[in-house]
Amino acid sequence: MGSKYKMIPYLSSVLSNIRFETALDAFSESGVVAYSLKEMGKQVTANDFLHFSSTIAKAIVENPGVTLSQEDMELLLSPNKDGRNFIQTTFQNLYFPLEDHQFLDSVWSHIEDLPLYKREIALSALCLAAARKQPRGVFTITDLRYDDGRKNMHLPLRELFVKAVEEYNNAVFDNGKINSVMCEDIFSIDPSGFDLVYFDPPYAPPKDDADYIKRYHFLEGLSRYWRDVKIMENTKTKKIEKRYTPFAYKRTIREALSKLFRKFENSIIVLSYSSNSVPGEKEIYDLLREVKGDVEVYSVPHTYSFGTHETAKRRQVNEYIFVAR
Ligand SMILES: C[S@@+](CC[C@H](N)C(=O)[O-])C[C@H]1O[C@@H](n2cnc3c(N)ncnc32)[C@H](O)[C@@H]1O
Repeated sequence: MGSKYKMIPYLSSVLSNIRFETALDAFSESGVVAYSLKEMGKQVTANDFLHFSSTIAKAIVENPGVTLSQEDMELLLSPNKDGRNFIQTTFQNLYFPLEDHQFLDSVWSHIEDLPLYKREIALSALCLAAARKQPRGVFTITDLRYDDGRKNMHLPLRELFVKAVEEYNNAVFDNGKINSVMCEDIFSIDPSGFDLVYFDPPYAPPKDDADYIKRYHFLEGLSRYWRDVKIMENTKTKKIEKRYTPFAYKRTIREALSKLFRKFENSIIVLSYSSNSVPGEKEIYDLLREVKGDVEVYSVPHTYSFGTHETAKRRQVNEYIFVAR
């Protein structure tokens, strides 16, 4: 997971030429950028208004070194403790076979017995397992027979979960700093205290909108056992209500970016942007110049795999990294 995964080497080389100690990854999603900032030895804050994103960031960014032990795994893989069946009944015949849904209910029956960070690793691994099994990792496709030829599709979620835990355990480390995670709308965050802020907001595609809940509603629900979210019962996908963000729409993104840049004008701003989005790169540049004296633009060729089956063909776009100070 992580749309910026392939960009990390370029981004790191750009970041390595900037002097800063504290950093905010304001739209962290998979946590991959916050994690590489942590690897660079920075004091990192990761934020995303999605719960599953903040869960992942707690597991790998905030977590100072806690891993899941063999004993923890025995607990998580033991039979359903309280007979809960919300996932089995709600998603019957959608996404995964019954035994996978039973497995998810069963793991959840134990998860809250674990302390912080162990719980977050277990939840992140459940989300990663579910994303790997689901065609293209997006939950707009409900057909459990949809076969895109990947091996993961035919593996039980239990097996994918065990592998994902191993991977998360291996990723955990302490960089000697107090790193933290927030799960807030970016406009409600206190902007002070960050030498550098990294922005990778959703960009409005020329057609349609950038709706993350539509793609990831199952992971968002799974990370909280669908507590405090509302399933739209009349939808075929049983998705949860979308979370409005002004970045996702052509009408509102310019104003949102302008407000964002003004809010964080006291920090160095680093922004990722791909050229098939609205607004265009010249406009982004002009918006940044309104608050910053010096704006550099780096261009990175990057092949994108976009997450919905309508647009799934891989296409070449230009990725830009703006650095404004
Ligand atoms: C393009 S993705 C970030 C991808 C990330 N850099 C990665 O590589 O995994 C944009 C993220 O912004 C989050 N987001 C959108 N609007 C937001 C808002 N107003 N406040 C906080 N997060 C928001 C979405 O939930 C989504 O995860």
